[in-house]
Amino acid sequence: MNHEFVLVLDFGGQYNQLIARRVRECGVYCEVKPYSTPLPELKAMNPIGIIFTGGPNSVYLETSPHVDPEIFTWGVPILGICYGCQLMAHSLGGLVSPAQEDTAREYGKTATHYDTSCRLFRGLPEEGISWMSHGDYMAKVPEGFSLVGHTEMCPNAAIADEARGFYGVQYHPEVNHTENGVKMIRNFLYEVCHAKGDWTMEDYCRTAIASIREKVGDGKVLLALSGGVDSSVAAALLAEAVGSQLTCVFVDHGLMRLNEGDEVDAAFSKWDIQFIRVDAETRFLVKLAGVDEPERKRKIIGEEFIRVFEEESQKIGTVDFLAQGTIYPDVIESGSSEAAVIKSHHNVGGLPDFVDFKEIIEPLRMLFKDEVRQLGRQLGLPEYLVSRQPFPGPGLAIRIIGDITKEKADTLRQADFIFRDEIAKAGEDKKLNQYFAVLTNTRSVGVMGDDRTYDYTLALRAVTTADFMTADWARIPYDVLDRISVRIVNEVPGINRIVYDITSKPPATIEWE
Ligand code: XMP
Repeated sequence: MNHEFVLVLDFGGQYNQLIARRVRECGVYCEVKPYSTPLPELKAMNPIGIIFTGGPNSVYLETSPHVDPEIFTWGVPILGICYGCQLMAHSLGGLVSPAQEDTAREYGKTATHYDTSCRLFRGLPEEGISWMSHGDYMAKVPEGFSLVGHTEMCPNAAIADEARGFYGVQYHPEVNHTENGVKMIRNFLYEVCHAKGDWTMEDYCRTAIASIREKVGDGKVLLALSGGVDSSVAAALLAEAVGSQLTCVFVDHGLMRLNEGDEVDAAFSKWDIQFIRVDAETRFLVKLAGVDEPERKRKIIGEEFIRVFEEESQKIGTVDFLAQGTIYPDVIESGSSEAAVIKSHHNVGGLPDFVDFKEIIEPLRMLFKDEVRQLGRQLGLPEYLVSRQPFPGPGLAIRIIGDITKEKADTLRQADFIFRDEIAKAGEDKKLNQYFAVLTNTRSVGVMGDDRTYDYTLALRAVTTADFMTADWARIPYDVLDRISVRIVNEVPGINRIVYDITSKPPATIEWE
């Protein structure tokens, strides 16, 4: 692919992925590379611009990550963010030192003034909030740089050497808390690097299809389809590219949400592919009978999944390519392609090493989640599949506390469906990152009509989160919760009490098991 390319050089900052996503949102392709990548390798990528990310270290320590100063002689514009800014200052003859308690150490939202004659801030307001998180301070900026942004505490919140195209900001323009932050990144790309913005999903889709065709030739491709967004989009892309050479094995373990299996099935009917749907509900339920320990449930499901997949792939015989829905965050997080392969299959319990294949193919390897969704839309997958919230590989098994039975799974499916339905009707779905029902193992006394009931308690869980590593419980309006509660208790036999989980992560996790 011959796209304009921006290099995001990673110094270990917590927002490195976010920077890359912002650049791509601005229509420019970029990749994140570790700071330790050999310089000739980076140069060969021919970047039109470079962004140094933040990082947890102090540049003046010898052990901290540095970059060969030769990079500053390439004539390529550089934007340094936080640590990246300090690194640029340090490397080009400035002085960075620990901030004193009462001077320039800054954390959080900070009122900032910008010099709008600087290209980075062109067309933006002179004042705005920026998100600071730095304990070091640039005591002296390098020669050639001018001060283009300041806060009350810090005279050099932003620095620029416009002639060389070098810019540094102490704050984080990539996070939402920084007002107009994305516009600053856009200015760097378009005003400074003169990007044209040739990264579109339509174009990506076309090129990806062509390169899959070239790679696969007339070979056979096998994909384990889970029904989640990533494997579904990978399947759609491969279906479009090599159609009849593709076999998708969709193992329905009977612990999916209501209608989910049929929805996945229907979504792929328009392509001429081999679609094998294995109805394995009974065998999974038999294996899970009487098991209440969460980790054992996961293990049993993972292993059984492999067995089913194994049986199906043996029927197919040798395939040339085993396809996987690995996406870019997996690749960045793991730092190596090896680990990414293993991780992408945590969903189905491990890489099926018995499957006879020649090569692995990962068509979404360079895409972020939101790009994967965009690609899915581009390929004509239905919205309910593309915008689907994350769903754990073990499915409802880890949302039924205690032992699992078909009756409990059916009860939970119905209740979960009503929850999702009411959330969507109330327009709350766009505000939540994940929401689902949990069937607790607790029964309590209730009264319905004139009768005493002794039924299960259902818990509702809804969270907002950026990365699923931490999460906040969602403030769903009371009237919406009320409608959900009334409907579930009236419509779902076996449930007579609803509770709402108001714990964040940490200390709780998102799932209950
Ligand atoms: P926790 O419960 O750890 O969940 O806060 C974080 C996110 O991961 C999902 N999750 C899983 N996904 N296989 C998966 O593919 C699993 O075994 C699994 N367990 C949790 C969970 O739904 C949430 O989005």
